[in-house]
Amino acid sequence: MSKRRLEGKVAIITGAASGIGAETVKTFVENGAFVVIADVNDELGHQVANSIGLEKVSYHHCDVRNEKQVEEVVAFTLEKYGSLDIMFSNVGVPGPLASILEFDLNKFDNTMAVNVRGSAATIKHAARAMVERKIRGSIICTASVAGSVAGCAGHDYTSSKHGLIGLVRSTCSELGAYGIRVNSISPYAVATPLACRGLDMKVSEVEAIGNDYANLKGITLKTTHIAETALFLASDESAYISGHNLVVDGGFSVINQCLPSIKK
Ligand SMILES: NC(=O)c1ccc[n+]([C@@H]2O[C@H](COP(=O)([O-])OP(=O)(O)OC[C@H]3O[C@@H](n4cnc5c(N)ncnc54)[C@H](O)[C@@H]3O)[C@@H](O)[C@H]2O)c1
Repeated sequence: MSKRRLEGKVAIITGAASGIGAETVKTFVENGAFVVIADVNDELGHQVANSIGLEKVSYHHCDVRNEKQVEEVVAFTLEKYGSLDIMFSNVGVPGPLASILEFDLNKFDNTMAVNVRGSAATIKHAARAMVERKIRGSIICTASVAGSVAGCAGHDYTSSKHGLIGLVRSTCSELGAYGIRVNSISPYAVATPLACRGLDMKVSEVEAIGNDYANLKGITLKTTHIAETALFLASDESAYISGHNLVVDGGFSVINQCLPSIKK
């Protein structure tokens, strides 16, 4: 049997009732962790916890826009499992695909409240718990390729993910003194409910369009690839990695299409 890389560790995963978060719960538990799912979708959250096993997984309602609820999910985790080693701040909403000429600033506020402010609250309360208990923890945020390049998502989402990568770098610069690592993962398109909703397409359509625009051919990006990346950043295998934005995009964000003639 291969080595379990998170044996006995305690993790909170926000936005884990669906998509990337739900897949990561499975991966963390298979690797020996106890996981608390923090989400607003109570029905799906309980379903994910029940399907994996309540001896290893709990569900706790938490809207990351509400700091009190973030504080409560951390307190619940410490009370139930006695530690907090990993915080995976994974919640994100797509925001609208709207022109700047028709921009709805109330929708912008909501995207920022979830994707940036929500992560700030999550990092704050995870870090407090870790610092008080002298835990050399790992904090991971889900950003996006839209946090590094423009033109592949709406203005709200693009701004929020750029902001989130800044927040990760900034908090890493303070928390390193306590031995706490802070990193982000930036996925390319994965056909989760978020992507399907955001593009108003079915899973097969999102995957087809993702594959068309992808740099790396012959493979479709799946939630398992992102969960494996989160596992790496959560485990001791990344012990000296902090402040890093781990882009999982097959090269999409570093290439430029201006010289198609040299491509096969
Ligand atoms: N799917 C992609 O193509 C893609 C690409 C790059 C980055 N991401 C990022 O990955 C992360 C996970 O997205 P996903 O694709 O798995 O989406 P998803 O919609 O499948 O899952 C998101 C989860 O977040 C929960 N959620 C939404 N608002 C919340 C709130 N205010 N408080 C708590 N929970 C809330 C939802 O209930 C849901 O369970 C997001 O940060 C997203 O921006 C996704």
